[in-house]
Amino acid sequence: MGKRWRYKLLTCFAVAGLITFVAVLVFNRTPLPKKTPTPKELYDVISPSTYRFILNQPELCEKKSPFLVLMIPVTLKDTEARTAIRRTWGQDGLSPRVTVLHLFVIGQPAQSDPVLQEHLERESKEFGDIIQMDFVDSYHNLTIKTMMIMNWIATYCQGAWYAMKIDADIFLNVRYLVDYLLDQGESSRKDYICGSVISDAVPHRDTFNKWYISEDLYPDTWYPPYVSGAAYVFSTDLARKISWASRFVRPIPLEDVYVGLCLHILGVKPMYATTFLGLGNLFEMLARDLNRRGRSFPKNSEWGNRSALGDYLGYVLVRKYLLKDETVNIYLFTTQLLAV
Ligand SMILES: *[C@@H]1O[C@H](CO)[C@@H](O)[C@H](O)[C@H]1NC(C)=O
Ligand SMILES: *[C@@H]1O[C@H](CO)[C@@H](O)[C@H](O)[C@H]1NC(C)=O
Repeated sequence: MGKRWRYKLLTCFAVAGLITFVAVLVFNRTPLPKKTPTPKELYDVISPSTYRFILNQPELCEKKSPFLVLMIPVTLKDTEARTAIRRTWGQDGLSPRVTVLHLFVIGQPAQSDPVLQEHLERESKEFGDIIQMDFVDSYHNLTIKTMMIMNWIATYCQGAWYAMKIDADIFLNVRYLVDYLLDQGESSRKDYICGSVISDAVPHRDTFNKWYISEDLYPDTWYPPYVSGAAYVFSTDLARKISWASRFVRPIPLEDVYVGLCLHILGVKPMYATTFLGLGNLFEMLARDLNRRGRSFPKNSEWGNRSALGDYLGYVLVRKYLLKDETVNIYLFTTQLLAV
């Protein structure tokens, strides 16, 4: 081969390389993640195999073959929240078409509380809706709790179609969600995760920020798309896959971002749930003005009365979606607002 030819060939390669490089930059802003296992001591912190069940419901799914399982992180002391949820969106039979189960997911308080623990164990016997593991419950440990949820679904509830992680201060329109999921068809049975998708988020480097994260812990300058941790629903196959992917993702204390990082490893894109009418986001959190309903808002003196709150939410629930008296989106309602 002559010198000129070699030169031409080299130029060709250089140009092709440049084009590829530009194409990668343009079309693939987020390079494919490397799968490097995290050091064992880091992985062990979030791996559910590190912890022991104090309370478990291993046969729940076998007995009931649910369509959807609601996994609700709470702490030992949140007795009132559990009661309110059991009376409202956690109650049985809300969806006439399928079985929906709920489970409260709990760790341990930093200071053990034998009285409350005994109370919890009685509650667990009575309702059969509590799972508890022996890691310390704290805001920073929510990632551990989320991985506990994934692990539990993967181990005990693969037969369910969907699982949902949902916070206790949210009010959920179960029936609307079930109808929505039933309408999604086959493609949503696998690698499906749906919620309020946050794209193009960046790490907060300001130490005063609630979501602060140090560069040591997370050196990248961007987050992959993730679903807001308040409430998201996923096909149960993802529980096993996310558990697997977590071997390659360094633990960070932001549980929803963490799930996003696992999804990134898996190449699964979280979905927005939109309605055709109005093009709204179904997972939008709404603190609605409830005065417009037939019954008035609880009086100020009733704010702290969780039993009144439960009754009130029960009322809203019956009006809004058992009777389906008006068109509603997934109705997310912060009971925090009512508990002030
Ligand atoms: C998280 O849980 C682990 C295991 O129980 C515990 O050692 C650690 O102190 C907890 N972290 C926080 C910030 O509470
Ligand atoms: C709390 O609400 C319940 C139900 O509405 C009511 O029966 C009870 O008397 C209230 N308790 C207080 C202390 O206001």
